[in-house]
Parts: sequence; C-alpha cells; structure tokens
Amino acid sequence: MADVSIQTKHFLSDKVEHFTESVIREMTRQAMLCGAVNLAQGFPDFPAPAEIKHAAREAIAHDVNQYAITWGAKNLRNAIARQMNVWQGISVDPETQVTVCCGSTETMISTLLAVCNKGDEVVIFEPFYENYGPDSILSGAKPVFVKLHPPATPEGEWIFDERELRAAFHRHTKAIILNTPNNPTGKVFTRAELELIRDLCVEFNVLAITDEIYEHIIYDGAQHVSIASLPGMEERTVTINGLSKTYSVTGWRVGWAVAPPAITNAIRKVHDFLTVGAPAPLQEAGAAALGLPASYYQSLATAYCARRDRLMPALAEAGFRCFRPRAAYYVMTDISAFGFADDIAFTKYLVKEIGVAAVPGSSFYNDPRDGARQVRFAFCKRADTLDAAAKKLLQLKPR
Ligand SMILES: Cc1ncc(COP(=O)(O)O)c(C=O)c1O
Repeated sequence: MADVSIQTKHFLSDKVEHFTESVIREMTRQAMLCGAVNLAQGFPDFPAPAEIKHAAREAIAHDVNQYAITWGAKNLRNAIARQMNVWQGISVDPETQVTVCCGSTETMISTLLAVCNKGDEVVIFEPFYENYGPDSILSGAKPVFVKLHPPATPEGEWIFDERELRAAFHRHTKAIILNTPNNPTGKVFTRAELELIRDLCVEFNVLAITDEIYEHIIYDGAQHVSIASLPGMEERTVTINGLSKTYSVTGWRVGWAVAPPAITNAIRKVHDFLTVGAPAPLQEAGAAALGLPASYYQSLATAYCARRDRLMPALAEAGFRCFRPRAAYYVMTDISAFGFADDIAFTKYLVKEIGVAAVPGSSFYNDPRDGARQVRFAFCKRADTLDAAAKKLLQLKPR
C-alpha cells in the first residue's frame, strides 16, 4: 500500500506548504473553546449603526437578492467615488476605476493575482497584517520584508529605515503593500514617509497597493493621507478599503479597490472568476453607510479613543509595556516582564489559565523570533468586555 502521507502530499499544491492557517482566527477558536474574553480577532462586539441595518433589511425586502453587477452595484461604486473625493480629494470614475469585492481580503488577493507574475517581488512592511504574506505567495510573488522598528519609548513612533527600504527595491519589485493606518502597530504613515515611498515607486516603476481599512479610526490629531493623493501616484496606486471596520460589519464581507482603469480591468477579471460578486443587498446598505454624516466618523474615532484609553492603563497595570497606537484598534505590547519562553507560550497560558485571548506577535513577522516578545490586544469591544479582560489580566504576575 502506498504511504498515505506521500499520497496525500501528491494532491496538495506546493504553495500551501509555505504558509500556515491564520493565527488570529485560530485564537478566536481557542477563545471560544476556553470561554476566554476575546481580545484577539479584530471584530466589534457591539451593534452596527441602526441606519445601515435598516438599509440592509430594506434591500432584501425590495428583492435586491440576485447577483449584483460583478464589479459592484452602481449605487455603492458612486458612493465610493464620491467619498474618495470628499475625504482625500481624489477624483475617481466609478465606471472604470472601482471594483467591489467580498471584503478587502478578497480585494487584496484579487489585486495581487491581477498584477503579479512568477518571480515578481512584493515589498511588505513588518510587522504586517498576516494575510499579506500568503496573498503574495498565492499570487506567485515573493514577499520581501522591511522592518518597522518599534519605538524606544511607549509614546514614540514605529519607524522604517530609509536605507533598508531602498535596499528592498530593485528591478524585480512589482509592488509595495502599504497598510496605513496600520495593523498591528497603530502607526499612521506621515506625508513625508509616503513621499519617500512615492519617490521609490516612481524610480523603480513599482505599484503601491494600499490597505486603508482603518482610515477613520484615528487618534491624537493624526492625519490619514492616501498615497494615491500624492503627485505621481494616481497612476500607480490601488487603494483598498471596505465596510468592515468603519461601520462595524466585519461579517458583511464588502470591500473595494480604487485603481487606474487598466488595473481595474485586470482586478475585475480575477474577482469575477473568484467570487462573481459581493452580497447584493449589503452593497446597497453599503451605499447608505457611505452616506452617513461627517459626525458619524467623528463619533467613531472618539469612541475608539475612549476604548484605547480604557485598555492601555489596564495592560500597563498588569505588567505589559504598551506601544501607544495612533490609529486602528489594537495595542502591541512587549511581554518581556513575564519571563515566558516566547509569545506562543505566553498566549497559550493567557487564554487557558487567565481567560483572555490575544494574538502572538510572531504571527505578524516573517521570522517568528522577531515577534517572540510581542503580543497584540484588540480593543474593538464594549466597555464591559474590556473591563472583564482587565480584571482577569490582573492575575498575571510579572516575574
Ligand atoms: C489591515 C487589515 N486589512 C484587512 C482586514 C480584513 O478586512 P475585510 O473584513 O474587509 O476583509 C483586516 C482585518 O482585521 C485588517 O486588519
């Protein structure tokens, strides 16, 4: 009889050997198994805005229940184009430059599949949102990582070294994936940093693929700048965004790409054969969401700032060294004080013995050793959830 493991391997793609399942989503399963407070995965545990839930119900009641146009319902594409202009001063043609996908997750992989050839390289800042590595590999490209160095003080900024970034660019570089505001660091790339990235993209003829899903969750007067708004970048940027975070609807699975027409055309082709389209009624509700008044976005940021300021002192009191996020809804922490072998041992102990789920830092790095002293907590949770976690975390004993 043939060796089963050899036989099984025969059926598998080499590509899937090069990455693991999502650690973040695995931590959610662990939290459920252990009955732990879930500060691992970034989904809100509070309700979505009433207006947009109403819009979703109305769309279903009015029988918007069949396939939408493959690249996105017209109402939603119009709303996306309008808001790109309002928020970033970028003019967008909704007919030729917008593709709506099943979440920004599908948008990212559709984009990479649309632009990458075997042998291309994709520059990724690390720590990085864990999908980018597997996305690059699945699209045939090789990810090349450039460090965001942690701040020396809790109030400081994560920064990249200009020389290290330049060294990552060369003739095989096809794209750079930029995530600003950033998960997991909470960094907001400054205009000066983006100009530097822009100059490299122009010099090496590289595409910027920018994930801006935390655009509206921003604190301390930080300002989000879309790299597409910089002179010279409109023609070489794919801007990715979605409903999940801004409107607290991570389960709706609606995201989009804004790109020049020729690139949009390629993304639309890949998207069509991957998923045909995003959920039709939720796209109509998405158009309503993008029509919410400016006050909605101010309240969103204020409420998230209050959640950050609730969790951070609790983490500090429990013994974590926290890096203060300027945006998004995560706190990266340093766990050195607890004396565990690494982040995996620590998060296992945390979920099983303390009853709080968090994400091991190594899942945000190419080399797990780089994240072995870091753990990420999500604070997109109700005050009582954060307080329950804080109480449990006090059982931890720095060694
Ligand atoms: C940086 C970043 N991009 C994308 C996503 C996923 O977005 P979506 O729900 O639109 O697929 C997340 C979710 O945590 C994220 O943190």
